[in-house]
Amino acid sequence: MSIATSMMVAQYESYGAAREVLRVVEAPVPSPASTELLIRVHASSVNPIDCSLRSGYGRELFESRRPVKLPVRPGRDVAGEVVGVGAEVKGFTPGDQVYAVAFYGGNGQYLTVPAGNAALKPKSLNYHDAAALPFAAATAWTALIKAAGLNEKTTNGKRVVIPRGAGGVGSIGIQLIKAWGGYVATLCSTRNVDLVRSLGADLIIDYKTQDRRELPRDFDVAFDTAFDTEQLLLDALKVHTGAVYASVVTPRVKFIDQFGLEEGLRRAEQFLAERVAAQRALGRSYHWIFADMDGAALRVVAQLVDAGKIRPIVDRIYALEDIAEAHERCESGESQGRVIVDLDAAGTAT
Ligand SMILES: NC(=O)c1ccc[n+]([C@@H]2O[C@H](COP(=O)([O-])OP(=O)(O)OC[C@H]3O[C@@H](n4cnc5c(N)ncnc54)[C@H](OP(=O)(O)O)[C@@H]3O)[C@@H](O)[C@H]2O)c1
Repeated sequence: MSIATSMMVAQYESYGAAREVLRVVEAPVPSPASTELLIRVHASSVNPIDCSLRSGYGRELFESRRPVKLPVRPGRDVAGEVVGVGAEVKGFTPGDQVYAVAFYGGNGQYLTVPAGNAALKPKSLNYHDAAALPFAAATAWTALIKAAGLNEKTTNGKRVVIPRGAGGVGSIGIQLIKAWGGYVATLCSTRNVDLVRSLGADLIIDYKTQDRRELPRDFDVAFDTAFDTEQLLLDALKVHTGAVYASVVTPRVKFIDQFGLEEGLRRAEQFLAERVAAQRALGRSYHWIFADMDGAALRVVAQLVDAGKIRPIVDRIYALEDIAEAHERCESGESQGRVIVDLDAAGTAT
């Protein structure tokens, strides 16, 4: 299998609006470390966090805590073919069709990822559809399995509420709960009602035409994927039964951006501790969730996809050269499902 020596990849050298800062550049193809895979990427995606980071969100945290310096190469989801395998990697061979989750660099023709972040892609999906899943699946998995303790054995009879059900994370959350036999309520705008119904949601509140307070108050788990729903969801949880609130939309990074690293972290921890204590007094637990880059999640999700229990929602597919448009689409609030970036027509990699 021949591997190119250079590739085309999206990057930005300063923070700002998509059209102003995003460029496609030629760069050397990386080599995998001993625990990594080198993937020839066929499809990638744009997640909301890619757009936020490009705008400068989290700069204080990511530049000081992790060695993330400009230029930054965006893109968290990849689907493609393994073309290189590190010496210590087991379970993958060149030619495997995989999907994987990365922190950065997914919007490029080649990417190295830790082997633990990858899994064989669902056989029933093409690369574009597979690229819609990894980061959202890892996020839903971390919240539902690791924080809320839900799985195929514990979910039957459980009542779960997930706002923003048409989003990448919410849509997988709904499908996981339905695959495991639980009950799901969700919120969405009118244009997404049919979509979330098709995913299996049992109760749908169209927040454009209905009062959100119509949400019942008897849920076991609230998986918060939206910005303004925390109090609504806390009001909807049962008391003194071990109910769980788990949010992936947390203010930690905003505190750090506003107050600097040390003071921001201190304030965030204090904010979190107060909420944990308040919910503990009501017999509930309260969690902030940050997605684990978990290949195990991707293996199970692939099985559920191939069994017809989970399907990805793809919005539009953009060529790499249109990466700025792809970011704008993701930021528009009008997308329905994941915005995909195609890498196969991405100019010349030599
Ligand atoms: N903590 C973590 O590790 C982690 C990981 C992944 C994601 N997240 C966060 O979780 C949230 C959900 O992510 P996602 O990938 O599911 O989002 P997404 O796919 O972009 O969600 C899109 C949907 O959100 C709704 N929406 C409402 N207001 C919006 C706005 N101003 N802009 C865009 N969409 C809007 C729309 O549905 P309706 O029209 O039906 O409202 C839209 O269809 C994001 O804030 C993301 O940053 C956190």
